[in-house]
Amino acid sequence: MMPSSLAATALRPVPEPPLALLAELTHRCPLACPYCANPLELERASAELDTADWLRVLDEAAALGVLQVHFSGGEPCARRDLLELVKRAADRGLYSNLITSGVTLNQAEIDRLAAAGLDHVQLSFQDAEAGSADRLGGFRGGHARKLALATMVHAAGLPLTVNFVVHRQNLERLPAMLVLGETLGASRIEIAHVQYYGWGLVNRAALMPSLAQLEAATAIVEQARVTLHGRVTIDYVVPDYHATRPKACMGGWARRIINITPAGLALPCHAAETLPGFTFPSVRSQDLAGIWRDDPLFTKFRGTDWMPEPCQSCERREIDWGGCRCQALALTGDAANTDPACALSPHHAVMADAVALATGPTPDLVYRRISGIAALTSAVG
Ligand code: SF4
Ligand code: FES
Repeated sequence: MMPSSLAATALRPVPEPPLALLAELTHRCPLACPYCANPLELERASAELDTADWLRVLDEAAALGVLQVHFSGGEPCARRDLLELVKRAADRGLYSNLITSGVTLNQAEIDRLAAAGLDHVQLSFQDAEAGSADRLGGFRGGHARKLALATMVHAAGLPLTVNFVVHRQNLERLPAMLVLGETLGASRIEIAHVQYYGWGLVNRAALMPSLAQLEAATAIVEQARVTLHGRVTIDYVVPDYHATRPKACMGGWARRIINITPAGLALPCHAAETLPGFTFPSVRSQDLAGIWRDDPLFTKFRGTDWMPEPCQSCERREIDWGGCRCQALALTGDAANTDPACALSPHHAVMADAVALATGPTPDLVYRRISGIAALTSAVG
């Protein structure tokens, strides 16, 4: 007789392969953004995967059917082997995107990355105005370096996306951000409201926009989409807190993306390490295909079988996949609850309580530091 665990594995349908691998090469970063998506406990360089492991992960990703790799961090350019990893991705037919803060790269380096097969650069900005941008990023002179990098990316012949993370401390300059993105020759501009996990959750009261700010921003983006149609694509990521239905976080749990942390843990999303009760699978000892198909962390919330009511009988259950598991955990104490961003959730009132903070006093920002949340001040001041 087959053991019950094997029988369950045999009965489970084989999932579609992930579309993308998010390779968080390192948590090291010269910036200190107070909304960083990295966990509060940042990995040190000594804990990072070595080059051979990353090369093997890229091989396994391609074999699994992954199409895109996003080299991210922290700042992925802090890795000395980035060129080698980009080359391996190209050799394996993976479309590669470099997600960078852009403050350390020079023309020779970006040229070498392009020659190694890099396909695309995504450059993050903290604001449209240097003083505010440098204050938010905690890095004096960072904004000017980013502007210079945009020119270098074009000189290297690579397409450019610029990303602005918006919140109540910079939303008044949204029109200037859109102008800057176009001026920099970006083919895509991403306007992304802060997502309140990790460092963003720590700083929620300082960053949450009011409903009026959000509505004004949405109108500005919609107008810009009309004005820039055919020239620049605008992606717009809204905050959950003012919504009545959640977003399909990560495109659904373990459906589209596999995330590898600097230390080699394989996760269905960048915040999944907050979930209690799991032994997180490691690419140091397990292959990517097996993790994706069978690991309990991945199968736990995949699909719709796990869903409680009201999701289980909801017509949107295969649209938003019940929202975000990490947000459900952070705000309701149980990752298996309906995302409280949904107005049908019995916990939806916690969102309204948080939104009320947007009208209160703005506390000091807690900057991302490798030493954790004890460090309370900006490097720029
Ligand atoms: Fe989505 Fe669940 Fe809300 Fe329906 S009840 S909209 S599936 S979160
Ligand atoms: Fe983990 Fe949304 S951040 S599921």
